[in-house]
Amino acid sequence: MKTIVITGASDGIGAEIARQLAARHKQDAALVLAARNEAALQAVATQCRGHGAQTLVVRTDVSDAAQCRALIAAAVAQFGGIDALINNAGMSAQALLEEVKAEDLAWYEDLMRINLWGSVWCTHAALPHLKASRGHIVAVSSLAGLVGVPGRTAYSATKFAMTGFFEALRVELKQAGVSVTTAYPGVVATQIRYRGYNAAGQAAGRSGLKEDDAMSVEECARLIIDGMQSRQREVVMTAKGKLGRWLKLLAPGVVENLALAALKDDVKPK
Ligand SMILES: NC(=O)c1ccc[n+]([C@@H]2O[C@H](COP(=O)([O-])OP(=O)(O)OC[C@H]3O[C@@H](n4cnc5c(N)ncnc54)[C@H](OP(=O)(O)O)[C@@H]3O)[C@@H](O)[C@H]2O)c1
Repeated sequence: MKTIVITGASDGIGAEIARQLAARHKQDAALVLAARNEAALQAVATQCRGHGAQTLVVRTDVSDAAQCRALIAAAVAQFGGIDALINNAGMSAQALLEEVKAEDLAWYEDLMRINLWGSVWCTHAALPHLKASRGHIVAVSSLAGLVGVPGRTAYSATKFAMTGFFEALRVELKQAGVSVTTAYPGVVATQIRYRGYNAAGQAAGRSGLKEDDAMSVEECARLIIDGMQSRQREVVMTAKGKLGRWLKLLAPGVVENLALAALKDDVKPK
């Protein structure tokens, strides 16, 4: 049996990862589902149990270090160890820096606590168990963690931070046999941008990005699971994402124009 902890499992990519892992591994999967919305977690757990998986729901706010430690302790207490940790919980934000009032800048820190520190605290607590199982760590970063995206100074900063943290950790864990897979999704069809902060630190209620070519949540989850199970270092999604990464070295101005073109016209910097 494989015990897999998934943060941000109440909706979107994390919930779909849980469902697909349950469908693939059935009775061999023990899924520990974490997020703040317990009712939504229970609904995902019911779907996973329908495939035969065992589940444990742990209400967790990953922006709180003690709750991250408690999540890992609960997983170990219930299932005796951890084979994989998928750091997926995350929040988005859309605002030009000049639109953010000085008194509202604190949400930049809140975003960092969720996206970076939540991953750091969960990973730190899980590390001895993952070393014991020679397991897997997944970090769900973003293409915005490889290329700076306008209107996303806060979000890009958190995702670049994740990129650096997990790249360094990967090397630290090489000898221990623990793989670290960083996933870089592009635009995926979830509610994340609608829930993300606006300049005032409130739910934006709308997306600032063009969503026409959004990847399905099913495809994104499948690519992340495949990357984890084959111990890939990185999963860079979309052809544009793969190309942009190399183009940034050769022609950074072209990549900047592509990043600007991803924004809806009314949120572009004037
Ligand atoms: N969708 C995209 O286009 C896209 C692109 C690139 C990267 N990503 C990344 O993919 C990950 C998943 O995003 P998604 O699109 O699936 O978003 P989503 O549908 O909004 O789901 C986000 C998940 O994170 C959880 N979460 C948010 N804040 C949390 C907190 N403080 N503590 C614990 N859980 C928290 C949410 O649950 P609760 O509200 O119940 O806590 C929810 O389960 C994120 O890290 C995101 O940055 C997404």
